[in-house]
Amino acid sequence: MIINTITDKAFEAVEKLYGVGIDKSQLVIQPTRPDIEGDFTLVVFPITRISKKKPADTAVEIGEYVASQVSDIDKYIVVNGFLNFVMKKEYWTRFINAGITSSLPYGHGAVASRDSVVVEFSSPNTNKPLHLGHVRNNLIGVAVSNLLEAAGYKVTKVNLVNDRGIHICKSMYAWQMWGNGLTPDAAGKKGDHLVGDFYVEFDKHYKAEIADMEADGTSEDDAKKNAPSIVAAGKMLQKWEAGDSEVIALWKKMNNWVYEGFDVTYKRLGVDFDKVYYESGTYLLGKEIVAAALQKGLISKDDDGSVWIDLTDEGLDRKILLRSDGTSVYITQDIGTAKLRYDDFHPDKMIYVVGNEQIYHFDVLKRTLKRFGLSWADTIFHLSYGMVELTTGKMKSREGTVVDADDLMDEMYNTANDMIRELGKVEFGTCEASELAEMVGLAALKYFILKVDPKKNMLFNPAESIDFNGNTGPFIQYTYARICSVLSKAGRFDGKEMNIEVVADGFSDYNDCEMNILRMLFDYPSVIAKAAADYSPAQVANYAFELAKSYNRFYQEVYILKETDDTLRNMRLTLSGFVANVIKDSMAILGIGVPVRM
Ligand code: ARG
Repeated sequence: MIINTITDKAFEAVEKLYGVGIDKSQLVIQPTRPDIEGDFTLVVFPITRISKKKPADTAVEIGEYVASQVSDIDKYIVVNGFLNFVMKKEYWTRFINAGITSSLPYGHGAVASRDSVVVEFSSPNTNKPLHLGHVRNNLIGVAVSNLLEAAGYKVTKVNLVNDRGIHICKSMYAWQMWGNGLTPDAAGKKGDHLVGDFYVEFDKHYKAEIADMEADGTSEDDAKKNAPSIVAAGKMLQKWEAGDSEVIALWKKMNNWVYEGFDVTYKRLGVDFDKVYYESGTYLLGKEIVAAALQKGLISKDDDGSVWIDLTDEGLDRKILLRSDGTSVYITQDIGTAKLRYDDFHPDKMIYVVGNEQIYHFDVLKRTLKRFGLSWADTIFHLSYGMVELTTGKMKSREGTVVDADDLMDEMYNTANDMIRELGKVEFGTCEASELAEMVGLAALKYFILKVDPKKNMLFNPAESIDFNGNTGPFIQYTYARICSVLSKAGRFDGKEMNIEVVADGFSDYNDCEMNILRMLFDYPSVIAKAAADYSPAQVANYAFELAKSYNRFYQEVYILKETDDTLRNMRLTLSGFVANVIKDSMAILGIGVPVRM
């Protein structure tokens, strides 16, 4: 890589010129600012401490040496103490040809360690269907996994299903009481939606009971604790933990309905996992670990029998690990799941993609595991993300309900379908058109969410997300399809395979538009590396947008198909193909497909 070569030579220069070595990390080479002539810039400042000369003088000395040693460098220019190297134009021809013929996808593999990472995401409860918050979670989980993989890590995607606990028993109890044996088939509903309905049903009854009891003079706290349905759901949970066969059968039946529903949603959203953990399979291990810690005196039992960890000396709170009736709580299963996951994969890092309302939970989890003496606790990293809400529109006004993931995808599909009808390029109502509508609708949704840094809260704006002229997935898709169309007119694309030819050896006639694209393409590997280091798919998204914009400028400003000089025409087609590959790859990292026609 040219950056390494320049760094090595600059390192050598410092030693030769000033007789002292410099720490290589001090030699930073950046792409040259667009308003200054040059391709790569060496920041000279740190070297002046060794050279004991002015930055400009140091830059000249280093520049002279490096330029004489690296044959790809045309000249060096010193501006304001910065050392800028201008590459020979032929260098860029070699760059293109290497990029389009590399066996690894171009830009991948910057992190060569192959460290292994387990990424947990999605992690739903089995009492209701997936909603907009889950959509953001899943999209971030998929994109971060792809991103880490592209950077060179070995990635395992896992899901944790919270399939037991009081919230699950609430839906079960409501179905048993008021369901009249209703099934998803009979109701004509996805199973996750049906179960969700009963979760809502439970709440209705529960609230009514509380109101009645309060009217009869019971205090609010007592009513909440003693309302018949909550007591019944609690009993169900105890029976479940005791392995009561009837309760277990009901639990299995209803959870399976939910899984069938989730599968449909996951498939449509493009989500899959290498391994799924179930809370029901980990909570006992969690209880064992807690019991062992209790025995060792690391935690304590209250008079009512509940078990607590005291983290007050670390500036946190006391946190319950087991209830007084011996049943486990949310964190109990996380203790077991973490241990199991570590034993399964011995990963270098365990990432949890979970909303920022659980920052405290993961802080406590990590400290608890550490207190228990589990050295791998430090591999845990909570990748927290902010809230997502819907701006306006039909779905928002549906009262009282959260935005359902399936409904949202339907809505996106319908909007995209209307747009395709307007565009009129693909025959409306055909199979191709509906596949395209699905691809475009989902791209709009995914891109809009992923272009925002995970940390930030955001509003999802369906209309804006699908605007072909904005910073949107469909805009980028459109650019990709445009390139496919150009290549296909040139006989370089048959609808499936691109046939991209190398640029003529020694070619050096690049204009500004082309240089701009080349520099952007050059950046792609470092964009992946940096985005992976920051766990930020947004950086990849915004890069894809900038690249698409640059390509469109190039498309407006130069002749491609009409170019009469064969070498030039070939270079422009090749550059187009290279851009198409990088757009496709960056969108694939985001979990977004690109159409060859649009
Ligand atoms: N099921 C939980 C919820 O819906 C999220 C689980 C997050 N993952 C974890 N390992 N605790 O809030």
